[in-house]
Order: sequence, then structure tokens, then C-alpha cells
Amino acid sequence: MSAQSENRGAVTVSSLKKMKQAGEPIACLTAYDAAFAAALDGEGVDVVLVGDSLGMVVQGRQTTIPVTMDEIIYHSQMVARGLDRALLMVDMPFMSYATADDALRNATRLMKEGGAQMVKLEWGALQLDMVRRLTECGIPVCAHLGLTPQSVHKLGGYRVQGRDNHTAVKMLEDAGALEQAGADLLLLECVPALLAREIAANASVPVIGIGAGGDVDGQILVLYDILDIAPGKRTRFSKNYIADTGSIHRAIGEYVREVRERRFPTAAHAFE
Ligand code: KIV
Repeated sequence: MSAQSENRGAVTVSSLKKMKQAGEPIACLTAYDAAFAAALDGEGVDVVLVGDSLGMVVQGRQTTIPVTMDEIIYHSQMVARGLDRALLMVDMPFMSYATADDALRNATRLMKEGGAQMVKLEWGALQLDMVRRLTECGIPVCAHLGLTPQSVHKLGGYRVQGRDNHTAVKMLEDAGALEQAGADLLLLECVPALLAREIAANASVPVIGIGAGGDVDGQILVLYDILDIAPGKRTRFSKNYIADTGSIHRAIGEYVREVRERRFPTAAHAFE
């Protein structure tokens, strides 16, 4: 049964918070065009992310760094046309939030031109003021912590983050500070499952994970990974849903069900 047939209302920042409070896992996926967006919406995905992963899975680039504001707005406009119920979250591209003024100007473009209902930015030391400024202006913000792919060259590769005590404590503190600054959602990428659990337990806003284990408030994956059409090797934290279902709609529906029933992710998709 798709969530549409369960007659759920439109997803909002406050309904996501209620899902956390009720212990109901939030199912999120990426999308880059209207047809896939409509499929996700119909199968009950709660949050659809126009991720800058489009640089890699749609444009065939090596990293997310070259993605521009105009490109992400173009994809966001298409995705927005396909959605009815899901909340539309859109990534702020690399260097589109180098300063608080840039962040405000470009987040405004994502909302006014792209139809975004929430913007996502990757965490760095300068971003607390930025998050405060955006939220004061009524722009919902998701802060992305852990592995932040826009910093891949600084991080030295796509690696699990927060494995040593110092970086783990820092991530816990950063998550708390971001919530205080007004972030509505936290996203943890490639973080040890125990650390992710602690961050989610301490946060009153929902914490979504990708490669962060099952003890968080929701999951997100890259659509092309679950459909097994992403170029390159599949990441350990993802799962091929097309193999056992044989159709795009069934694959998406099964992902939503597994997230809701906490059958995905398993320990095999998580990091220690
Ligand atoms: O760009 C993206 O698709 C993302 C996900 C990996 C969460 O940020």
C-alpha cells in the first residue's frame, strides 16, 4: 500500500517534527525531474531532495563541486511540478553560501525560482550565523554533517567521519549548536551508528541519516543508487531495490516500507 492510499496530509516542517516525536521514521529520497518526483510522491516519500548529487548521477561528473545555482534551480523547478504531498528540500551548491549574504540571496532564489520548501547546506565552521540568518528570514534549513561531499578535497576522500573521540564530540556539539541556531532538520552522512544514535537522541529536530545506521529519525538515499543506475560502484550504505521488485514504483514503495518498518538500514549498511 502506498502512503498516498493512507491519505496522509502534505508534509511540513512541523509534521516532520511530529513524526520524530511519534517515533515514525521519515522516508526521504533524491529526485532530479518531474516524472521521478511524482513516482516518489505517489509512493509516500516524505522529503524529496534535489541533491547536488545530480552533478555525479545526472551530469556524470566526478564530484558535486561544479553544480551551479542555475542548474539546481532548473532541476528543482521540474521536481516541484511532480510533487503533491512531499516536502521539497534543495541543496545549496558549493560556494553558493560562502558568506551569510550569499546564503540569503541564493536560498531566496531556491525558494522563489526553484520552489524549495527547505534548503540544505553542508556544515562548516562559518555556518552558525548563516543558519540563524536564514531561519530568522523564514527559510527552513537542513544542516548536513559528517561526510560533506563539497569538502571532498579537504577531507581527502569520501570517508566515514566522527570515528575518533575528538571529532565525535565536536559533531555532537555542532549538531546542538545548529539546532540552537534554528536548523529544522539535521542530516548525517557516513557517521558511525552509535554516534548518530546519540546525536538523534539529543536533538529535538529530526535527524536523517545516510550511512548513519538505523537509530535516527529517518533515512535518505540517492534515487539512482536504489534503482541501480548510478555510475560506478554502489556504496555500502545504499541498497539495490530494483533487483527484487522489478519495477521503479515497486522499488520506491519497498524502500519507503522498509524505512517505516525499520527494516532498512541493517547493520550491513552501517559503520562502526
Ligand atoms: O546531494 C545529495 O544527494 C545528498 C544526499 C547524499 C543526502 O546530499
